[in-house]
Amino acid sequence: MQFFLDTADLDEIRALTASGLVDGVTTNPSLIAKSGRDIFETIAAICDLTDGPVSAEVTAQDAPGMIKEGHRLADIARNVCIKVPLTWEGLIATKALSDEGHQVNVTLCFSTNQALLAAKAGATFVSPFIGRLDDTGVNGMELIGEIRAVYDNYEDLDTQILAASIRGVNHVRESALLGADVATIPAKVLKALVHHPLTDKGLTAFMTDWESTGQSIL
Ligand code: G3P
Repeated sequence: MQFFLDTADLDEIRALTASGLVDGVTTNPSLIAKSGRDIFETIAAICDLTDGPVSAEVTAQDAPGMIKEGHRLADIARNVCIKVPLTWEGLIATKALSDEGHQVNVTLCFSTNQALLAAKAGATFVSPFIGRLDDTGVNGMELIGEIRAVYDNYEDLDTQILAASIRGVNHVRESALLGADVATIPAKVLKALVHHPLTDKGLTAFMTDWESTGQSIL
């Protein structure tokens, strides 16, 4: 499973990409707005911090506008992945941009039929929003499982499932169990993945026993 960071905060990205465990970054207009910075400067800076795909989202609502914006975003750096909303116009733009060889992340996916259309349009990634479905009382993980099952039925569908709108560590675990290809994870959740109280307790006991030996390795 690939881990992408879901943030436009350069300090978070710089700190966590240093671990070598981050495979890419996703942004969206809300995350760019939250950063308070210029989109072109921010995406360029993020592309310098990771060699992996960096999703930068178009804001036009019509296919020609999305394609034009997509070209401008793709010109920022070779690892820019153009992010496009899952609308009819977005699918037209996805087909055009993917046919040109651009990586496209189709976002705001909330149904299996939408994911099927994204794959047929040639999307590199489709982003089903788990948390926002959970917010409505629908189990967002069921969508991940359905998309996995549908994509696995057809060899010609090679779009990667990018689990998004991840709100906690269980979303990551369940997405991995269901076979999502990527999880795009907020920094706080990524850091929380490592923690288990028994690990902490066991390490404390090891160090206590080791100190009693009076030995040192270096
Ligand atoms: O990648 C999509 C993600 O940023 C949306 O998350 O928590 O606003 O639903 P959220």
